[in-house]
Amino acid sequence: MASERRTMTVPTRSAKSHKKSAGTPTIRLATLDDLDALVALEHAAFASDQAERRAIRHAIRSASMSVLVAVDDEKEGAEVLVAAATLERRRGTRFSRLSSIAVSPTRIGRGLGTIMLQAAEEDARIHACAALRLEVRADNGAGIRLYERHGYKRFAVIEDYYEDGMEAWRYEKAL
Ligand SMILES: CC(C)(COP(=O)(O)OP(=O)(O)OC[C@H]1O[C@@H](n2cnc3c(N)ncnc32)[C@H](O)[C@@H]1OP(=O)(O)O)[C@@H](O)C(=O)NCCC(=O)NCCS
Repeated sequence: MASERRTMTVPTRSAKSHKKSAGTPTIRLATLDDLDALVALEHAAFASDQAERRAIRHAIRSASMSVLVAVDDEKEGAEVLVAAATLERRRGTRFSRLSSIAVSPTRIGRGLGTIMLQAAEEDARIHACAALRLEVRADNGAGIRLYERHGYKRFAVIEDYYEDGMEAWRYEKAL
């Protein structure tokens, strides 16, 4: 269930064992308590095409979607949300679609995007999906590098996909 508090263990560069170490965020499914922080992250990470609050709330509640969050709990026991990823599954298909991945601007370039991508792949496997698909803006160099570095192959281009007319590149990775 989307509201279940399940933690995931993903391989990271800094932690070879599955044990959480200092500086390694915990990855878990989002709950409605994360909504404010998720909305704030959405606005901080995306200049356009931001998901609305109600869409994020729907995603957290949906049985066919997973909203994964990475949280630091270093600040006097209080959690700080530092990254998120949203996945959608469609009945009758064996694809999971990574509809969003975002890292807090203060934490970019330190491997969190990779951690979230690996967590997204694990979530897709848990739901018996054979492949992960995604769209990315053609001008999003950081996103494209992240996906290509992790074995995603471009298989389609969709013109005029984003609010400003930018095309989307579609990627897929078999799991
Ligand atoms: C795209 C995005 C998710 C990448 O997140 P990230 O945390 O920066 O990703 P990573 O750190 O795993 O990798 C990014 C870079 O950091 C480098 N890096 C990774 N771990 C590192 C570490 N421990 N130390 C130093 N550099 C590191 C990588 O080599 C990579 O370099 P490159 O892109 O220049 O080749 C992030 O830029 C973001 O949130 N962007 C805004 C939202 C967005 O565009 N999302 C994607 C489309 S939905």
